[in-house]
Amino acid sequence: MKIVVIQGPNLNMLGVREQHVYGPMKLEQIHAQMKDFAAQNGVEIEFFQSNLEGEIVDRIQECYGDAQGIIINAAAYTHTSIAIRDAISAVSIPTIEVHISNIHRREEFRKTNMIAPVCSSSIVGFGPFGYHLAMVGMLQIMNEIQAAQEAQKQAAQAQ
Ligand code: DQA
Repeated sequence: MKIVVIQGPNLNMLGVREQHVYGPMKLEQIHAQMKDFAAQNGVEIEFFQSNLEGEIVDRIQECYGDAQGIIINAAAYTHTSIAIRDAISAVSIPTIEVHISNIHRREEFRKTNMIAPVCSSSIVGFGPFGYHLAMVGMLQIMNEIQAAQEAQKQAAQAQ
């Protein structure tokens, strides 16, 4: 099973940008923890960060037929990008969105979310720990899909 982690604009500045909002952890440290957890659970994981909307759309499209799960923090594009929303919808791969901060408690414009309606779930406001929660959630989704496929196979064999 492969999970692709997609990080949007300015997340490469974690550890530097607005530490009172996002904390001191760097993106590399978050990814190192996710990589360890993935290895412990026998999951392949890839990381991608871009400040460009089109590159994020391209990376989501590349997941089609290749990855079984996407974890995405679309950052500021969350609030504006119909293109990223459509890409998630197009590939139809279970996707969990993460926001380090609680976007519901911040400025009004962060309450608009283009991405959430096409995601399996959203994890917001847990700080960098939200990425770990997303990994746990993704494993649960994968287990449920696998169990449903097994049940379907058994039902077909019983006929
Ligand atoms: C963010 C929240 C967004 O509103 C913001 O533009 C970001 C980071 C978060 O992780 O809390 O860049 O996605």
